[in-house]
Amino acid sequence: MKILLTGKNGQVGFELQRALAPLGTVHAVDSGDCDLADEQALRALIRTSRPDLIVNPAAYTAVDRAEDEAGGQLATAVNAIAPGVMGEEAARLGAAVIHYSTDYVFDGRKATPYVETDATAPLGAYGRSKRDGEQALMRSTARHLVLRTSWVVGAHGNNFAKTMLRLAAERKELSVVHDQVGAPTSAALIADLTAHLAMRLRHDPAFPFGLYHMSAGGETSWCEYASFVIERATQAGQPLSLTPADIHPIASADYPTRASRPLNSRLDTSLFTKTFGLRLPPWREGLNHILQQILRTP
Ligand SMILES: NC(=O)c1ccc[n+]([C@@H]2O[C@H](COP(=O)([O-])OP(=O)(O)OC[C@H]3O[C@@H](n4cnc5c(N)ncnc54)[C@H](OP(=O)(O)O)[C@@H]3O)[C@@H](O)[C@H]2O)c1
Repeated sequence: MKILLTGKNGQVGFELQRALAPLGTVHAVDSGDCDLADEQALRALIRTSRPDLIVNPAAYTAVDRAEDEAGGQLATAVNAIAPGVMGEEAARLGAAVIHYSTDYVFDGRKATPYVETDATAPLGAYGRSKRDGEQALMRSTARHLVLRTSWVVGAHGNNFAKTMLRLAAERKELSVVHDQVGAPTSAALIADLTAHLAMRLRHDPAFPFGLYHMSAGGETSWCEYASFVIERATQAGQPLSLTPADIHPIASADYPTRASRPLNSRLDTSLFTKTFGLRLPPWREGLNHILQQILRTP
């Protein structure tokens, strides 16, 4: 199988290079090889590499910068337009597309976890661009999987866990929001699940393409997540200036950001687990593994 992989140096893209390698030939690109905001370059890339499967973890992920005019334009080009172009080109080749989306397509006002059929209502430009990208791909006639995930964390790349470790080495106290709830999802888990799906879609003529929620099991708040990271780092003997007791819960209203975030980022993953018979391990499992890599503990 010939696979075209975008965003090879992102959190998920990096893990996908590893996870997809046994499935066939992987042509992995980054923004230097092809700027996804350049529609003609993207079409040329797909026409030249003629993949059987396009896997697209590349995205403009700077949630706050997407609120600026320039950031918003880039987010639209990369997140909203490019997935539709991939769908059109994949349809011409008879290829399938695996694309990723986000909990930020929702406004977070629902009291229970979001299901795939819930109406989207993004709070900011990033969420809007991701919602538009899902729809553009779904409008194409290409066979596609749209996998919505949440709070991605990987050993490679930038994320909340690494930010907390850096701040915990510099500061004596931290205030972290406690009223946004979701599931930190390991980039390695996303990549491994993607490889399972890619195997199956290749061999199963009745493969159930479509939109699925795919995040780690359980839920937490950013504040509890930060405490967990600091606790593990302390146990690993990391020199830090604070302990979990120095992490104080605050409300989102007391931590204003350019883009509003949904308070409820919980995704109901039962459609995914029932359809594919795959387990989504609890978020702590994936995070522990990543922290072992970051902290270099046994
Ligand atoms: N991060 C999260 O918390 C989160 C949560 C929910 C869903 N998601 C979704 O999950 C997917 C993977 O996210 P991630 O955390 O792995 O993202 P990431 O670490 O920010 O990586 C994004 C990748 O996209 C590439 N990219 C950005 N602009 C590009 C452009 N104009 N042309 C080509 N490539 C471009 C970047 O390439 P360069 O490095 O070469 O610029 C980077 O490798 C995305 O669809 C994201 O929306 C993420």
